[in-house]
Amino acid sequence: MVIRIWLLALLLTANLCSAEPLAGKNHCLECHPAHYPELGTCVACHRGFAGTARFNIAHNRLITARFSSFTIADDPTTKQGKQRLDDYACRRCHTSEGKGNRLAANLDFSQLEKNPEDLEESIQFPVLFMPEFHFIQQQRVELINAILLGGKQFKVPAEELPEVVHFEGEEITREFQFEKHCGSCHRALTARFGGLGSGLIGPNLSGIFSEFYLLNFGEDKQRWSTENLEKWLKNPRKISLYVQMPPVELTKEEFENICKELQQLDPVKK
Ligand code: HEC
Ligand code: HEC
Ligand code: HEC
Ligand code: HEC
Repeated sequence: MVIRIWLLALLLTANLCSAEPLAGKNHCLECHPAHYPELGTCVACHRGFAGTARFNIAHNRLITARFSSFTIADDPTTKQGKQRLDDYACRRCHTSEGKGNRLAANLDFSQLEKNPEDLEESIQFPVLFMPEFHFIQQQRVELINAILLGGKQFKVPAEELPEVVHFEGEEITREFQFEKHCGSCHRALTARFGGLGSGLIGPNLSGIFSEFYLLNFGEDKQRWSTENLEKWLKNPRKISLYVQMPPVELTKEEFENICKELQQLDPVKK
């Protein structure tokens, strides 16, 4: 509290005598004490703009304290976040650290474009086709730190921006076999047809045939190939004893169409 009042007092004085910024001067220091000076400049870790003492401009796109821990080497918060990106298979839809599918935003790019607070909000209140993970705040902070670190380490080439293709042309009139047979229980973002399905009781199957989906087929945790999916649909309980999903009977053609609908574009790999 004392610190805040002190800072606010400084803020007011700084505003009163807001002269033209001197070239090269770090104006952050007019309001803040030096901090981790041996590890870099204020802006290298927090972004913002050091060329002025005007609060709003100085703090433009600021990385606030709780989202800054990734700037410290071997930070445990960020490490947790990285683990969560894997555990929840965020890369079945997103690219982060230069790898992942391109069904949704490239997070390496998002972190440049958006405030960490907005990214956090996107996880807390996900769009229709992003699963609701019900993370607590600390978990979201961990994830954002991991995303910020990933974006810092991997530059995004322009050609790798997300290609999220939504219903176009003839496809719009087509009947999607995924919608028909799976869509009441599942959703999936697809490379060619956008979001399909409306169900929430089964997992979101986006990017299922990619290496970035959960490796959870069978006891030996295999990847979901089309062959494995075919076995699963015939009798899920034969693969995993306690599942609720009923067997789904499909013709060969219906099954092949579902596989085509679920195919992702080539993922980004580094
Ligand atoms: C005019 C004074 C002023 C300048 C210039 C200024 N700040 Fe601040 N800064 C403040 C005040 C006041 C707060 C506390 C505001 C609050 O709690 O929202 C703050 C808070 C912060 C925080 C913590 C925010 C959080 O919620 O975690 C960071 C980090 C920060 N500033 C970094 C910077 C950096 C980096 C610069 C230079 C690029 C800078 N500030 C320039 C006044 C300033
Ligand atoms: C190596 C990265 C790094 C550098 C350089 C750095 N910071 Fe920070 N800053 C952090 C981290 C991480 C935190 C989160 C709390 C902590 O670890 O101290 C933080 C927290 C803050 C806070 C919030 C402090 C609080 O007690 O809530 C302010 C304000 C701040 N930094 C301002 C600055 C300013 C101004 C500079 C330049 C003089 C600067 N930082 C340089 C990484 C850095
Ligand atoms: C089933 C696909 C899917 C999965 C899985 C998924 N997301 Fe998303 N996510 C989306 C979609 C769709 C958006 C909306 C923006 C877009 O179209 O890319 C989004 C947006 C975001 C954004 C905001 C990006 C921006 O540029 O505004 C963040 C941050 C994010 N997701 C983080 C995560 C994290 C962290 C995970 C894993 C815990 C995750 N997402 C898992 C589909 C997904
Ligand atoms: C009546 C609802 C329902 C229908 C219809 C349905 N599923 Fe499922 N599915 C589920 C549920 C619930 C689960 C979660 C596991 C369980 O049963 O507890 C699941 C799990 C799965 C899994 C395992 C994914 C994972 O990460 O564990 C796959 C793959 C799958 N379904 C594919 C399909 C496909 C493809 C179709 C359509 C051909 C389909 N499902 C139709 C309810 C359904």
